[in-house]
Amino acid sequence: MVFKLLRKHMKTILVTGGSGFIGSHTCLCLLKNKYKIIVVDSNVNSSKLSLKMIKKIFDQNKEVMEEIIFHQGDIRDEKFLKKVFLKSLNNGYQIDGVIHFAGLKSVEESIKYPLMYWDNNVSGTLTLIKVMELFNCETIVFSSSATVYGSSEISPLKESFEIKPLNPYGQTKATIEYILDGIFRSSKSNLKVANLRYFNPIGAHCSGLMGEEPLNKPNNLFPYICLVAAGKYKKLNIYGNDWPTFDGTGVRDYIHVMDLAEAHFSTLKFLLSNKAQLINLNIGTGIGTSVLDLINKFSVVNDIIIPFEIVDRRPGDVASLVANNQKAISILDWKPQRDLNNMCADGWNWQKRNPNGY
Ligand code: NAD
Ligand code: UFG
Repeated sequence: MVFKLLRKHMKTILVTGGSGFIGSHTCLCLLKNKYKIIVVDSNVNSSKLSLKMIKKIFDQNKEVMEEIIFHQGDIRDEKFLKKVFLKSLNNGYQIDGVIHFAGLKSVEESIKYPLMYWDNNVSGTLTLIKVMELFNCETIVFSSSATVYGSSEISPLKESFEIKPLNPYGQTKATIEYILDGIFRSSKSNLKVANLRYFNPIGAHCSGLMGEEPLNKPNNLFPYICLVAAGKYKKLNIYGNDWPTFDGTGVRDYIHVMDLAEAHFSTLKFLLSNKAQLINLNIGTGIGTSVLDLINKFSVVNDIIIPFEIVDRRPGDVASLVANNQKAISILDWKPQRDLNNMCADGWNWQKRNPNGY
């Protein structure tokens, strides 16, 4: 009886793209905080096994976990999404909010195949918002990106800075923010929206059971460093040492994936307990790290040398992206807890224990 009562009051969250890197770590965090979750993922860039690892982590800690409801499918498929919402309703759970991770994320690929990015990211989001409206679901946390700022001369970046994406990937993220803003401003809207502009998530859960598993050759720096460390690639290519930064290599704001996951939990808690609003929040640490810094830190923390070569700049790259994270820290009950040492140690621990991914 008591159990039933508790279940009724538990919030139910739909997590699109929940099998992916950030999504799976966020699911773990939501479950730890007693949310009920439904995951929708096409697995175009992830393994279903990521969610199975969450259960393993709960078991290891002798904790009981609420079951994850998983639906494999594409968010562009309206019929499929309607079924997901309806099924949940029929089972007695209205979906209270959505965390929307599902999307394609490679800058380079988006330059080669822009239409694929517009279709997947923007059409997918439009379909999702339409279905949310149909089922009176009014809370959405959207995975935006620091890429929306383009290349700013001024660092760290504030949320109020101009949005000027330089590549199709960033343009899809900016467009989705724009669409959400337009709907929010309409007179009938009760939407609660948080656009979380992530900086560069790296690392893995400290258990070594969950982490990032790029299905193809990785585009991002950290997974590539891990694969060089594991001996899968001979060397790392550094995309330019002539950027206007302190050592000439690209500077980014790396954030531990568990800190990012916790930011989602705090954002949901904030939105669900406040009035209709739209907020843009930078989720980063506020610390700039160059490519050379990251290689050095990884080498020292894990005692592995990472061979590298300087090559040409990569199309679509910018010199520096570092967050001013004060707004997130002041609004959310959140701040980053883990440093670059933790990111390098946890990321390598995951890679070492899972040389072939999940
Ligand atoms: P990821 O590729 O690991 O996860 C995205 C998930 O979405 C994958 O599981 C994929 O299978 C799924 N997906 C993609 N398109 C789909 C569709 N149409 N229908 C259903 N599922 C679909 O990526 P991630 O690193 O976990 O990123 C999550 C989100 O955060 C993405 O939207 C990404 O653009 C954004 N983001 C990521 C970073 C980063 O550096 N990782 C930085 C800023 C923003
Ligand atoms: N880099 C290299 N060699 C590599 C890979 C990357 O030198 O093999 C450099 C890049 O030139 C850049 C830095 O390492 O200076 C970081 O590059 P990543 O590819 O790891 O990350 P990006 O900042 O380019 O992009 C990532 C995600 C985007 C997201 C963005 C937010 O891929 O989805 O962070 O800041 F939007």
